[in-house]
Amino acid sequence: MKHFLSIMDYDEATLSLILDEARSLKDEYRKGGNKPILKGKSLALVFQKPSLRTRVSFEMGMQHLGGYAFYLSPDEIGLGKREAVKDIAQVLGGYASAIMARVFQHQHLVELAEYAGVPIINGLSDYNHPCQAMADALTIIEEFGNMKGINITYIGDGNNVAVSLMDIAVKLGANFSIANPDGYDMPEQAISTAQKAALTSGSRISFYTDPSEAVHDADVIYTDTWISMGQEAQSEERIRTFKPYQVNQQLIDKASSNVIVMHCLPSHRGFEITDEVQDGPHSRVIPQAHNRLHAQKGILAYLLAKE
Ligand code: CP
Ligand code: NVA
Repeated sequence: MKHFLSIMDYDEATLSLILDEARSLKDEYRKGGNKPILKGKSLALVFQKPSLRTRVSFEMGMQHLGGYAFYLSPDEIGLGKREAVKDIAQVLGGYASAIMARVFQHQHLVELAEYAGVPIINGLSDYNHPCQAMADALTIIEEFGNMKGINITYIGDGNNVAVSLMDIAVKLGANFSIANPDGYDMPEQAISTAQKAALTSGSRISFYTDPSEAVHDADVIYTDTWISMGQEAQSEERIRTFKPYQVNQQLIDKASSNVIVMHCLPSHRGFEITDEVQDGPHSRVIPQAHNRLHAQKGILAYLLAKE
């Protein structure tokens, strides 16, 4: 049984295969439509948090490939509240060919994978966001032709998006650096796993507290919200702490002239990114968001097409 819970569960060859498939499905779609390779397949979309991109790109992706997706809102399922996770897993696993879930606790995904009997796809947990990272890699490859040797610099909170971005970087031979305030580091476990993978791929991982220093050789500057879903109570403190970590024109000017700017979205304009940068010539945030659709078709094809 294959699942898609973390980039680190896959080797470089498999990740590249999925990304190649994503690119060819994108090309096929743009030339008039995809073949119905997922005919008769269904995907349950379980959400404990809001979403635009993840929900719509999975729904449309399934439709384009001839399959069917159905959405279950946070109030309906009550993962671990209305019903035990393992019960939900076993019941849904009998209805759907696969389950995509967006959860708070990463452990809930692990539990779904243990009991569902069908592939589980991680649509974001408090720990990581691997589908986002696949779309990010697709976007970087489209821009630079490769991930190998590309310098990716993440500015801000060492959160779920940062973890998966580091994971895909070290798996595919890109260099990853992060500038974050003290106390907002990525989880130690994520760093040590990535450092091991970097030994194989030759990637460099660097840590900074000063954003200006971190971006000096960046090909990609990446940022995300300072306040992830579930952290709303810490808003005031986080806004104060992260203020020097804004991706603005002044920071972009410190990087190379062909640097690109990425953000998983939703963004908070005027906080982690300025209007000028998000709407400016370096920004790739919209094609990046569109690539969620294509990257996830690659994932769906890998998990479900040749079952
Ligand atoms: N980037 C991302 O996962 O967006 P949504 O929260 O809208 O799904
Ligand atoms: N770090 C953000 C990502 C949203 C797609 C969050 O968890 O809310």
